Amino acid sequence: MEFAELSVGDQKLKLAVVTGSEQERAIDIRELRAKAGLITLDSGYGNTGACQSSITYIDGEKGILNYRGYSIEDLANHATFVETSYLLIYGHLPTAAELADFRTLLIRNSLLHEDMLHFYDGYPSTAHPMAILSSMICSLSSYYPDSLDPGDPAQVERLIPRVLSKIRTIAAFAYKKSIGQPVIYPDNSLDYCSNFLNMMFAVPSEKYIIDPDVVKAVNTLLILHADHEQNCSTSTVRLVGSSDANLFASIAAGICALWGPKHGGANQKVVEMLQKIDDEGLDIKEVVRMAKDKNSSFRLMGFGHRVYRNYDPRARVIKEVSDKLLAKLNRSDPLLDIAKELEEHALSDDYFIERKLYPNVDFYSGITYRAIGIPLDMFTVMFAIGRIPGWIAHWKEMHLDGDGRIGRPRQVYTGARKRSFTAIEQR
Ligand code: ACO
Repeated sequence: MEFAELSVGDQKLKLAVVTGSEQERAIDIRELRAKAGLITLDSGYGNTGACQSSITYIDGEKGILNYRGYSIEDLANHATFVETSYLLIYGHLPTAAELADFRTLLIRNSLLHEDMLHFYDGYPSTAHPMAILSSMICSLSSYYPDSLDPGDPAQVERLIPRVLSKIRTIAAFAYKKSIGQPVIYPDNSLDYCSNFLNMMFAVPSEKYIIDPDVVKAVNTLLILHADHEQNCSTSTVRLVGSSDANLFASIAAGICALWGPKHGGANQKVVEMLQKIDDEGLDIKEVVRMAKDKNSSFRLMGFGHRVYRNYDPRARVIKEVSDKLLAKLNRSDPLLDIAKELEEHALSDDYFIERKLYPNVDFYSGITYRAIGIPLDMFTVMFAIGRIPGWIAHWKEMHLDGDGRIGRPRQVYTGARKRSFTAIEQR
């Protein structure tokens, strides 16, 4: 075994070096505080491994993303979202029989308890669907009180298809309510993505014609979003889950984390930014200049990533999907042209080159959602639907393979030292 040596004053400490299956190395500091009375300080956790995981591998320098050893490009080209979900959650590609059983479970669990439909009436029509999604997912826990024990594998197994299947229904119903249309119930004859599109776009008076190319595009987008190791929302799901909070509650917390514009909320912000450039006829060079200006809070949305210091492999696939879909639908989108121009300018600019800032998954996903007819405020909801299998896989792995310890970071306190209480009359 390899060791790292740490010297602090007179103290010398030998710390084991842990090596992952792709030769990533980490210094194991689990005994640091007990042996040396020290903790590590790493705001943003850029250098902190919170766990060992066998789900997803990212090489941010080379732009590689693999789920359970399979490349994202292979999965996007050959698998469905349901197959990919099975892979992430159970660790292997399903056999035909396993996949058929899994599909049946998803079909059997697609409906919401009818009482939950009344919840939608309580939200204002302007409510952001991410607010509805997170609270509805958390509310599901009140309907399955006998399946909430994270320590009972049989109960967990019952919850997995429930959350994976119902999230689509919750999302589509939220959209229908927001536009004042009646909800469309799930149709068990349809596959996962077609069923979602049908619930979104069919109306009782008119059938929705399902376009296989649109279904393929949705499948691809969901696959590309399905996992991304210890990102902000997944770490949130793990942290909440580490207190033994149930799966619904843990995932609801993940949805809230995903909502932020520095994370999944960026897909909405990208399109808003492109729309503004188009509406106001802004000069691309000026937009790039603003993004570089340290006195401005403006950032190029959909650019940069904590882990990728190269082109995000998901963005490459989405760009292709977007091009193909727009061509197939015989549509052009001025925002796609603006996005391409913006990318070209940014990628040849020293600021972006030096900082290794490339388009991320969110840069082109919104344009694809627009082409499908998904409204702007549902973009991050689409991301959440895609990320469900990843969250489940991590939550499950933490409970099965983790050490069972509650997640609890430490801090370096910088506040006032002990002082005496001053009575209110003397303040
Ligand atoms: N536009 C302009 N400058 C940027 C951008 C950007 N989009 N992203 C990073 N930078 C700059 C920073 O200002 C910083 O510059 P400095 O070294 O001169 O101070 C440098 O690049 C490094 O940036 P950090 O903030 O340290 O990068 P970090 O890893 O903390 O943040 C993040 C990553 C949040 C994704 C950031 O790049 C960002 O805000 N991007 C825009 C929002 C976005 O697209 N988010 C989606 C990410 S993908 C996902 O979550 C699914």
